[in-house]
Amino acid sequence: MSGDGYYTKQCNAALERLTGGQKALITHSCTAALEMAAMLCDLGPGDEVIMPSFTFVSTANAVVLRGATPVFVDVDGETLNICPKRTAAAVTDKTKAIFAVHYAGFPADMDALMEIANRHNLLLVEDAAQALGSTYKERPAGSLAHMAAFSFHETKNIVSGEGGALVVNNPNLIERAEIIREKGTDRSRFMRGQVDKYTWVDMGSSYLPGELIASYLFAQLEMEPMIRQRRMSLFHRYAEAFAPLQQTGCVQLPIIPKNTKGNGHMFFLMMPDRSMRDNFIDQMKQAEITTPFHYVPLHSAPAGHRFGRTAGPMSETDRISDCLVRLPMYFDLGNEVEEVIDHVNAFFKVTA
Ligand SMILES: Cc1ncc(COP(=O)(O)O)c(C=O)c1O
Repeated sequence: MSGDGYYTKQCNAALERLTGGQKALITHSCTAALEMAAMLCDLGPGDEVIMPSFTFVSTANAVVLRGATPVFVDVDGETLNICPKRTAAAVTDKTKAIFAVHYAGFPADMDALMEIANRHNLLLVEDAAQALGSTYKERPAGSLAHMAAFSFHETKNIVSGEGGALVVNNPNLIERAEIIREKGTDRSRFMRGQVDKYTWVDMGSSYLPGELIASYLFAQLEMEPMIRQRRMSLFHRYAEAFAPLQQTGCVQLPIIPKNTKGNGHMFFLMMPDRSMRDNFIDQMKQAEITTPFHYVPLHSAPAGHRFGRTAGPMSETDRISDCLVRLPMYFDLGNEVEEVIDHVNAFFKVTA
């Protein structure tokens, strides 16, 4: 029932197959995996990590927990992912790493980011919470940087209630990742028979899930291609249904970044302005359809002011946060997708 048994090993192996990553270690959340990544980057007070402001709090908290500073840069207005030009401009002699988020499951421009990382000797981490099964230039998310963090929270494609994984691609970081995940001990080495007792060798915490969670997760991972296919067909149905709305300028549909394939994690609409977006959310609520916005930008949040700083303008982040609305997207949405489409079309008929 405790961690690192049969099912954990199966999950790790399945994730290595799915991501093409060197070493996968399941964790109890993506938040935990990001915390591990921050430790593996050896972050401390005075260090800076460049990341988008348009992300979930865990991307930044991992850095703040190490006493380092998140430096927020704007996203690209089309891909909604971290802008490589703004990233390059934000590098200082304090920068230690770049944390790139694959928003809505579409990978960021990882070649451009890796070029910046190599030029300045930085570590590059994928926050791939939403991106299992996605690809960039035919390479899977999880294999695109030195490390990658995934989420199996119930809102994601592959779920185990709460859950996550860290994928480590830099061979020099693998052994330390195992130690950090096992409370700072070399228990993994002990379990492989490489040492005759295990002991405290580094800092760490308890980041591994129990076997019950791992067994549930393994069943999900085995079904990943089918789950992705089902969600992609919902994504394509929405895209086809709303193409006429885009043509008349009512909404902007997701723009799929060049050379990437998504995983059907999310479908969103970009409204012309905030009041129309908020009005839409209210109208849909009356029809009992939940259509949440995303995200409150971290640079404008109280903790963002306290712990982080911005580099460059944030105009795209602010605009997207005002205008974006997510439509229902889950595995067993089924024919209800047509009901959602009807209600969205009805909203625009009335407001036109
Ligand atoms: C981009 C991003 N990073 C990190 C997380 C945190 O994932 P978890 O809930 O598994 O800790 C999320 C969750 O939604 C996310 O969207």
